Amino acid sequence: MTKTLPATDAVNGHAASTSVNLLYLLRTVDSLSITSDLERAQLISATRSFLARIQSPWETIRSHLVDSPAVQLSLKVCMDLGLFQKWKDAGNGEKTAAELAVIAGCDEELLHRFLRHLAVEHLLAEVTSGTYAQTDFTMAMCTPHFGAWPLYMHETVLDTWKAMPGVLAERGYKDDALSVTDGAFQAAHHTAGQSIFDFFATNPSRAKTFNNAMTGYGAEKCSWLDIYPTDDLLDGAIDGPLLVDVGGNIGHDIEKFRKRHLNTAPRLVLQDLPAVVETAICADDVRIMPHNFFEPQPILHARAYYLHSVLHDWPDVNALHILNNLKPAMKKHYSKLLLNEIVILDKISASSPQVTSFDLAMMGLCAAQERTESMWRALLDQAGLKVIKIWTSEIAVESIIEAEIA
Ligand SMILES: C[S@@+](CC[C@H](N)C(=O)[O-])C[C@H]1O[C@@H](n2cnc3c(N)ncnc32)[C@H](O)[C@@H]1O
Repeated sequence: MTKTLPATDAVNGHAASTSVNLLYLLRTVDSLSITSDLERAQLISATRSFLARIQSPWETIRSHLVDSPAVQLSLKVCMDLGLFQKWKDAGNGEKTAAELAVIAGCDEELLHRFLRHLAVEHLLAEVTSGTYAQTDFTMAMCTPHFGAWPLYMHETVLDTWKAMPGVLAERGYKDDALSVTDGAFQAAHHTAGQSIFDFFATNPSRAKTFNNAMTGYGAEKCSWLDIYPTDDLLDGAIDGPLLVDVGGNIGHDIEKFRKRHLNTAPRLVLQDLPAVVETAICADDVRIMPHNFFEPQPILHARAYYLHSVLHDWPDVNALHILNNLKPAMKKHYSKLLLNEIVILDKISASSPQVTSFDLAMMGLCAAQERTESMWRALLDQAGLKVIKIWTSEIAVESIIEAEIA
């Protein structure tokens, strides 16, 4: 990518300046020019940092505080109208705002205001003035797992964040002033006394959106199978249960394992709350088991117990409770505990913003948090477990913490 501008495009006949070359690159590079996920991750990170360096304070305010919330709003309205799916069903061609309003069943000028914002943010393609085409992004919104995100953010996370400053002020900005059943989520949704998961258990449509959103969260990211050498689990495994996915939701991770390691299905167990596993997507021969992880683990001596984004939902006291219920099922020198979790780096500015935004979501939704390496080590140590290795990948936000009985 060291192309320079043709001489005719140089400014005032002088050699092209750095910013002119950069402009050329920015206008010509697309996803096809990028050869690996690592290169793409590095480009995104460098672009974010570049924007922060060149934007004025007002441009930064506008982009983060005005433009992004307006995207959230526009998407939510378009999704409520079923626009992208109806557009796809109608053949997916280029359409004017008037044609889209007919498809969506709404007022043209009203719809057009939301379409314009999505187009200006390059989420929708503007073919000619007032005519639009779907993008990879809007097509992704037609899938249940990505399409759940505008709704999940709107009805669960943004409401919670809106209530959070008031709740924190009332409680004196103390780190331990929020609890699992009495925090910002409960203040926003008037559900004091219920954890977010108790709430989902009695609100099936909200739970469905959450479960879909969790599938979407895992859909494109670097798979845990590409971070941790799962072949090693099979190599040392004796007969009996191979992998228990604890709090495995509807089974997206265990399905990835089953597809990679054919013929292992009868030795795989998916556990989650009863209402969640009822909608599991696993192959028939995977064992699907309702199980509350605050009770003793019933599957004994499995080769591995895998928990993905589970402990980050709970403060230390509850996380310890989960581990204490799991550890007696583990066989010393054989069973492994695999935690697929964010490990906050010391130098945070090198991380994805997901690390910190998820941390703040955990604060509001569950009075919980993402953890640094030393926090993970201390938690596991308290449970009588020792870290064997923390597996990482340059393209993954999460790490696999491999632990055994100490
Ligand atoms: C953040 S989600 C992660 C789900 C899944 N491991 C993944 O990575 O997509 C946390 C999961 O914990 C489950 N969960 C919450 N409380 C539970 C409990 N007491 N026992 C078992 N599972 C529970 C939820 O239903 C949810 O599926």
